[in-house]
Amino acid sequence: MTDLDPLLDEQRRFPPPPEFARDARIGSMDEYRRLYRESIADPEGFWGRLAEAEIDWIEPWDRVLTWDPPHARWFEGGMLNVSANCLDRHLETRGHKVAIHWVGEPPGEQRTLTYRELHAAVERFAAALESLGLLAGDRVAIYMPMVPETAIAMLACARLGLVHSVIFGGFSAEAIKDRVNDAGAKAVLTADGGWRRGKIVPLKDNVDEAVAECPTVEHVVVLRRTGVEVAWNDERDVWWSDLVRDAPRGAPPAAVDAEHPLFILYTSGTTGKPKGILHTSGGYLLGATLTMKSVFDLKEDDVFWCTADVGWVTGHSYVVYGPLAAGATAIMYEGAPDHPEPDRLWEIVADLEVTIFYTAPTAIRAFMKWGEEWPAKHDLSSLRLLGTVGEPINPAAWMWYHRVIGKERCPIVDTWWQTETGSIMITPLPGAVPTKPGSATVPFFGVDADVVDDAGESVGPGSGGYLVIKRPWPSMLRTLWGDDERYRSQYWSRYEERGWYFTGDGAQIDEDGYVWIVGRVDDVINVAGHRLGTAEIESALVSHEAVVEAAVVARPDEIKGQAIVAFVTVGGGVESDETLRSELREHVVRRIGALARPAEVRFAQALPKTRSGKIMRRLLKDIAAGKEEIGDTTTLEDYSVLATLRQEA
Ligand code: PRX
Repeated sequence: MTDLDPLLDEQRRFPPPPEFARDARIGSMDEYRRLYRESIADPEGFWGRLAEAEIDWIEPWDRVLTWDPPHARWFEGGMLNVSANCLDRHLETRGHKVAIHWVGEPPGEQRTLTYRELHAAVERFAAALESLGLLAGDRVAIYMPMVPETAIAMLACARLGLVHSVIFGGFSAEAIKDRVNDAGAKAVLTADGGWRRGKIVPLKDNVDEAVAECPTVEHVVVLRRTGVEVAWNDERDVWWSDLVRDAPRGAPPAAVDAEHPLFILYTSGTTGKPKGILHTSGGYLLGATLTMKSVFDLKEDDVFWCTADVGWVTGHSYVVYGPLAAGATAIMYEGAPDHPEPDRLWEIVADLEVTIFYTAPTAIRAFMKWGEEWPAKHDLSSLRLLGTVGEPINPAAWMWYHRVIGKERCPIVDTWWQTETGSIMITPLPGAVPTKPGSATVPFFGVDADVVDDAGESVGPGSGGYLVIKRPWPSMLRTLWGDDERYRSQYWSRYEERGWYFTGDGAQIDEDGYVWIVGRVDDVINVAGHRLGTAEIESALVSHEAVVEAAVVARPDEIKGQAIVAFVTVGGGVESDETLRSELREHVVRRIGALARPAEVRFAQALPKTRSGKIMRRLLKDIAAGKEEIGDTTTLEDYSVLATLRQEA
């Protein structure tokens, strides 16, 4: 794992500023260590205590944890409602506090919802969903822009015990179809369109195309956002506003089991088929709430902005559930960071006096490229804490963030976690843990993380290995929707006898016990913080009639972290020219979405394979990265392939 070496040479250290530590929820390394030790020595006592303190239960639980590897049940016997925890319980103390400050992409468009207003909207929309005949446990797909109604939709589902599956608005009709069918969704919630860089994303058209092949879908609820005309199916489609107008007033929160499914969120794995990560109610809510408060050191008057889209897990946990369960004021922004100008986010920070700002390394690298003059135009002095998530952050980007945005005053929390983990797992606590640029630092409470070799031995400082989690945690995924076998094999089979969770990430631990994440060790790639499976892109490519075989690898990219390079062999008689190249790129966009568009398509006469016929991606990676020296080729079946691949490149 030589990629890590430059990181480990990183000697800079940033202790929490004393004035920050003084007022922090966890204000010293000793306090962090004490709580961490307690969480590991007596996990059930620790989590039981916090579940009682942080969550409003309708019925208390009987047992903190039942661990039947690889299946965990947390807070069994307990009954709760997640939307009541996010809304109803704040009405008395925070009714008039702003829950969501929403900023639309078209400049000047803003909406503010207090806890009272959000509660009323959720109650009514839940009644509207109920009027469609949806029952607890039914699945509802949500394919919507970043507008308050998307959060309202999620919370309304939670209110009734419906299981939502949010599909990122950048996915194509084909991708929607696969996800809706896999979940067996009865309803799809969408909008007439969403704004993106001044253009309208045709969300309803995509849903129409998808749903034509989704036999389980009975209803499509359409929010009017842009006012464009959309095709209409009278039997199936209903306007959001009509449904709400006709619904009886208010739906009370349903009491559901702690282990009742809250949502499914599809993410990429190592096969062509996305995985439906299943999260349940009590444990997920506890993880999101506790990390929200302690990692972001949340104070009553904070204005919290996580820039993620709700289509990703970060948006679930830190735009909707975490902030609202903690009673915070959250920002939600509809559009692109450079629309109309590259200072849009800084304008919002200044205007709404954001205190905590959480974004992805890709965005930070884009800000760097756009130049310091953009943030310099705005007063960023309201900021007190910064965060990053989604990919490894290079020290140069960390330092830029620290200096230009944080004015060398705001601690940075580099938070490692995954769709599967539900909430933040490895992170500094900003008032306690000194940071090192490029390291996610130390495990959060209850997280028994280690870096091990194939045999499961801890590798110790200075060597690379696999990041594993050695015991269950409340917000962990419970299974893969409809595919428990894949759940077992994907996450638990590698260290089966020990019952450890395999993260799929490579990492190192340094002398201070700090974790340095290298990146994925499987065929999952991370492009601009978006997780994609190379197999998904390959199967999209081979679904094109001209393509015989395809292999997709990532090469390093200065802004996006990684970029997609596709090696493709085409059938006899097919012209491998520029036209086909762009057709293939667009073909992938149609099958998956623009986020999967290959940066490069390279035509090859043959792909390098082992004698047993396995494509040697390692070699392709080296070629894609333009390396002179490529890795071990002793198992390569046909050496001439390499030479031609290089020429063709
Ligand atoms: O490789 C790790 C990377 O993102 C993966 C998880 O992707 P996803 O499920 O889409 O969730 C992203 C947001 C939680 C991980 O396996 N990753 C996430 N955070 C970090 C990271 N890599 C390095 N440092 C991080 N802070």
